Amino acid sequence: MKRFGEALNRSSDETSPIEHAAREFHGYYGSQYALPADDAERQRLLIQHNCLKRIFENRILLVPVALGPDDRVLEIGTGPGLWLLNLAQSVDPAVQMLGVDITPDSFHPLPRTILPADWADTFTLVHQRLLMIALRIHEWPQALREIYRVLRPGGWIQLRECQPYYEGEFPNKPCMEKLVSMYRCLVKSRNLYIDCAADIPGMLKEAGFVDIQVEERPQYMGKWAGEDGAANAANHLAFFRGMKTPILEAGGYGKIATESEYDALVEGLEKEWEEIAGIKREFYIFWARKPESQ
Ligand SMILES: C[S@@+](CC[C@H](N)C(=O)[O-])C[C@H]1O[C@@H](n2cnc3c(N)ncnc32)[C@H](O)[C@@H]1O
Repeated sequence: MKRFGEALNRSSDETSPIEHAAREFHGYYGSQYALPADDAERQRLLIQHNCLKRIFENRILLVPVALGPDDRVLEIGTGPGLWLLNLAQSVDPAVQMLGVDITPDSFHPLPRTILPADWADTFTLVHQRLLMIALRIHEWPQALREIYRVLRPGGWIQLRECQPYYEGEFPNKPCMEKLVSMYRCLVKSRNLYIDCAADIPGMLKEAGFVDIQVEERPQYMGKWAGEDGAANAANHLAFFRGMKTPILEAGGYGKIATESEYDALVEGLEKEWEEIAGIKREFYIFWARKPESQ
């Protein structure tokens, strides 16, 4: 295992790394993925999974398909496999499920956006959730074409992504504004497609999918939005904590000079979300079908 930033070229807006206690990252297959792969991140993913279920009325599958013993389901970027395990509770136990990820302790480590050649026309359903800070801009269309290839004719894709944070959006929340500014610098330097949600319907069409549909729900951050708001805030605060190592390794983008400054921003962010109501993000579930005949 190597620390995430070690193999990467620094972009021109990056300076010397800021000393800090680094978390565990996996830079496998040249990935630009910007979040850690450690116990704290696995806990965050569990909070996130439960939050995402609640905002979509506990539905995890919007695709209109009844899965049976002959069906195979693939999840890409499965992490600890929370979605697959959840799906397994509600379908025929004979349905075959496969999860792939770049992390070595995941179900099936696989390199990036290229799937095995002999998986063509195999899966009834492919699911991919929250790869907005994992896949680079040019990798998204490739990934969707690969998913199309491995789906059987008539098979379904379901994707879930969210509206990103924008700089300048939070004028009365200075900690949020600074953190978002650094997060934007980081994703720009890695060419990650955090604005992918807006382009997913077009990319699905381009890949050959039909019957493209989307549902969206707002997710509110902070105790002012009740129990769910508190859980959503805990998830997003942990997200910003997870971003600390790559941001400090990049030198803080001129916004901070020490690890404690970064920590203070995240603490301040928590207060901003408690004291000033209003932060929300839209979450989207997209689904579409590979035509029966091509
Ligand atoms: C934000 S997590 C989401 C995990 C899971 N999809 C969920 O919603 O609970 C993103 C996952 O994508 C994986 N990942 C990152 N880059 C990837 C790539 N190029 N191919 C496959 N998986 C990738 C990460 O290791 C991580 O487990």
